[in-house]
Amino acid sequence: MSKPKIYVTRLIAPEGLTELQQVCEMHMWEQKEIMPRDVQFQLFADCKGLLATTDIIVDRELLEACPNLQVVSNHAVGFDNIDVPVCTEFGIPVGNTPGVLSETTADLAFTLILATARRVMEMADRVKKDIWPKKTGMLDNLGTDVHHTTLGIIGMGSIGREVARRAAGFNMTVLYHNRRRDESAEQEFDVMYAEREDILRQSDFISLHLPLSHETEHYIGANEFKLMKRSAIIVNTARGSIVDQAALLEALRNGEIAGAGLDVTDPEPMRGDDPLLDLPQAIVVPHIGSATYQTRIRMSDMAAQNIVRTLCGKPMLSCVNPEAIGKGRSAPLFE
Ligand code: GLV
Repeated sequence: MSKPKIYVTRLIAPEGLTELQQVCEMHMWEQKEIMPRDVQFQLFADCKGLLATTDIIVDRELLEACPNLQVVSNHAVGFDNIDVPVCTEFGIPVGNTPGVLSETTADLAFTLILATARRVMEMADRVKKDIWPKKTGMLDNLGTDVHHTTLGIIGMGSIGREVARRAAGFNMTVLYHNRRRDESAEQEFDVMYAEREDILRQSDFISLHLPLSHETEHYIGANEFKLMKRSAIIVNTARGSIVDQAALLEALRNGEIAGAGLDVTDPEPMRGDDPLLDLPQAIVVPHIGSATYQTRIRMSDMAAQNIVRTLCGKPMLSCVNPEAIGKGRSAPLFE
């Protein structure tokens, strides 16, 4: 039997791909540019599996153009690039990589909290531009405290929990909002459940950890910014369009909130002439939440294992639509 063809849609850490390469005919798109959609249709047409990065939109059109496709494994915890109900309809299980990136992403959320509060980018720029000799007074270069303030975490999944763990070290009061109250998180991290509006009103820092869906698109917009403290700082390491970016720009310009730390934007990549980048109180980094060597290796390994296991008829390490398994296209290839 010939080996099943699998496409890895961007250059990812090769350390995680050894087994996939052994059992499959693996191809990888190694160019820096995102693979154009028409090229995807050509290259994926006879594939059994996709190890997809989040720039690949997996929808009905793509699945119909790839009649052999039996498994999709996302190299990410988020899967808003994939039409999961359509994959389920076709009997295609969809994998993702939760857990392995939670601490690394929480580290970045905390980096953004600290960097916006202490104006790190602006201050570094002052040194580079030789402003330091002119701004040396005790009331120059002031930021705001992070320790002993109130952090609102919206979305208490595994990344939100890791942010809460870090906040404890800063003696922060932590409020959280989640679809379901999470009593185990309350006990483990000493966090308090609050309604969304209460979090917006009371928090000094708000960190977003929600998946993107129809319900969470523009979850934070003009009305929400009006509820926040004028001194509040918002941090988004989840998905750009959870925040209405035009409303964020206005809220920052009007002083309705004090700062924003964004790892994710809408659209991505953000253009270099975006007006948000002119505001010193906004820090934007290029979607690097999981971008450490160690974590990217763990993600590539988990995403590859999700494919190999499916092809062998074993459960994925993490599957977002287990109801797809065993129906339609998802019959195992290897016994
Ligand atoms: C990154 O954004 C991810 O969803 O893993």
